[in-house]
Amino acid sequence: MASKGHSFDADCMTLTRFVLAEQQKFPKATGDLSQLLNSIQTAVKAVSSAVRKAGIANMYGIAGNTNVQGEEVKKLDVLSNELFINMLTSSFTTHRLISEENECAIEVDAEKRGKYIVCFDPLDGSSNIDCLVSVGSIFGIYHKSEQAESEVTALQPGKNLVAAGYALYGSATMIVLSTGHGVNGFTYDPAIGEFILTEKNMKIPSRGKIYSINEGNEATWSEAIKEYVRSKKYPNSGKAYSARYVGSMVADVHRTIKYGGIFLYPASQTSPNGKLRLLYECIPMAFLVKEAGGLASNGNIDILDIVPEQIHQRSPIFLGSTEDVQDVLQLIQKYDK
Ligand code: AHG
Ligand code: MN
Ligand code: MN
Repeated sequence: MASKGHSFDADCMTLTRFVLAEQQKFPKATGDLSQLLNSIQTAVKAVSSAVRKAGIANMYGIAGNTNVQGEEVKKLDVLSNELFINMLTSSFTTHRLISEENECAIEVDAEKRGKYIVCFDPLDGSSNIDCLVSVGSIFGIYHKSEQAESEVTALQPGKNLVAAGYALYGSATMIVLSTGHGVNGFTYDPAIGEFILTEKNMKIPSRGKIYSINEGNEATWSEAIKEYVRSKKYPNSGKAYSARYVGSMVADVHRTIKYGGIFLYPASQTSPNGKLRLLYECIPMAFLVKEAGGLASNGNIDILDIVPEQIHQRSPIFLGSTEDVQDVLQLIQKYDK
């Protein structure tokens, strides 16, 4: 409760405090996960600051490869990747890192090694940066499996996740996190440099009024997807759904969790596995949506049941409100028969 006469809540629930409190529930916990999540928090703060500065740099026309001092400026996705890698490896809790930006898995140096594997997309929606539209970061955390030696044998299905989350660099910066006991959202307060619990136990409505898909690709969709989207635009009864598509998965999924509805990135004739990457886009988002009470499927099975075969493999994805996802799955089954 905020104390009278001050705008500060003297007892606010910061993300660090929340994670420590969660850790207390597990007497055998070593504190490694808390340490790992702290390092992600630091990376997110730094990416957030860089994203905000990039907007200003654009305004003064100094974005690009060199700044006004003639110094080299790193592209934001490269910078974000370096921040994640440096913070994660120096947390002494990670064994292997899988990043969208690195062709191969990164093996952490023996002296810094810990027991977790982290898969991440350091900057999602990067094509939206130059027009100041929201971008994000996505991460999924696994225990290193006992027998796994190579980067491929180490791949685990999403149902093994220990935790997953995303950061959204929107009108505010927010971290949405699940350690497998529901979903909570923390808004960054730059005045104190902390993420504060603002969205407790987030739950997705069982049905929404919004569909979210890149409709420019309609010509490449299967009949099932065409019929599904048509049914949302021309319903037999009731109001048509609204269309919303930011083009940054984090922003589109965040809206879907908050307001309900469905996000779709289906297969196409040219991309039979769709566009989005399984390990650091589809799986962490599916984990969060399911923890919030929704559904996430590749059109055939639950995203969290897919056993990955390659670190950068793609998957079609349909996620969001349970009833909305069930509707599209029914149509997919109808056309499969
Ligand atoms: P990234 O910036 O990490 O490469 O990801 C972009 C992704 C995702 O954020 C978004 O949902 C999707 O690309 C949009 O793709 P289309 O432009 O094909 O709609
Ligand atoms: Mn992405
Ligand atoms: Mn990316």
